[in-house]
Amino acid sequence: MKTALITGATSGIGKATAFELARAQLHLVLLARDSDRGNQLIQELKEKTGNPKIELLIADLSSQNQIQAAAKEFLQNHSPLNILINNAGVAIKQRTFSVDSIEMTFAVNHIAHFLLTNLLLDALKDGAPSRIINVSSEAHRNGQFDPDNLQGEKQYSQFRAYSNSKLCNVLFTHELARKLKDTGATVNALHPGFLNTAIFRDTGGLLKAIVRLAAKKPEVGGRAIARLALDPVLENVSGKYFNGLRMVNSSEKSHDEADAKQLWEISERLTQSESN
Ligand SMILES: NC(=O)c1ccc[n+]([C@@H]2O[C@H](COP(=O)([O-])OP(=O)(O)OC[C@H]3O[C@@H](n4cnc5c(N)ncnc54)[C@H](OP(=O)(O)O)[C@@H]3O)[C@@H](O)[C@H]2O)c1
Repeated sequence: MKTALITGATSGIGKATAFELARAQLHLVLLARDSDRGNQLIQELKEKTGNPKIELLIADLSSQNQIQAAAKEFLQNHSPLNILINNAGVAIKQRTFSVDSIEMTFAVNHIAHFLLTNLLLDALKDGAPSRIINVSSEAHRNGQFDPDNLQGEKQYSQFRAYSNSKLCNVLFTHELARKLKDTGATVNALHPGFLNTAIFRDTGGLLKAIVRLAAKKPEVGGRAIARLALDPVLENVSGKYFNGLRMVNSSEKSHDEADAKQLWEISERLTQSESN
């Protein structure tokens, strides 16, 4: 039985993905920050899919200590890992900081998943053929890689910080794919679609109105992610970007190898990890 770990499964696209993978009868480990909501979701998933193998891992992804503890617990109880879905994400209006003093959007959307993935990398290699899926966004096309403004040091806006973090997701995907070559573990990024979820809760009225009118249901994203996780045709595909079900070219900036390498080094410094 394959084991899949999903971050951000308590809402929106992550929840829809959890349903898809539970229906496929995978062993699921859901990483969530709120145990009550996590347990409620597990009960709902078990009842509606008949899948008994669904477990909870508690961590607030804005805390590196909590990520370390969750990874340790995973390695002790659930290793090896076949599918890692780095899905949790935020779009934060005001520039705020995590307990590790890292700007919150960058901390949750990129740094948390950089750390979690590196801590689970041996488990993923043991679980090969294994897949990592980084949930990015078409917003990455508006992102800039400026090492001096990764945390909004020079300029912060919700849209800018979010787009930059989503570009980091794709740069990370490309660098990790180079490092994972010939290991049997693959990594791809995707835009799950423009979908009506809670991520727009802090955005302006106009965008909220557009979401109500034009966004699709989160299930559309859940199906796209599940397809990347399970479709045998994609077993050896790595370092690619998907818009929903279609493999497309990510932005030119996301292919800059020097930027990807620099982001990796900065991320290592900020997590004090010894990954390579
Ligand atoms: N919706 C779209 O149109 C769209 C488009 C492109 C890309 N995306 C991407 O899709 C992914 C999922 O977003 P969504 O739209 O489904 O949004 P959502 O409904 O707000 O779900 C976000 C998930 O991330 C979790 N999360 C946030 N901060 C966390 C933290 N500090 N620790 C642990 N978990 C945390 C949330 O947990 P709680 O339930 O506890 O808050 C929730 O489960 C994101 O990466 C987003 O960038 C979304």
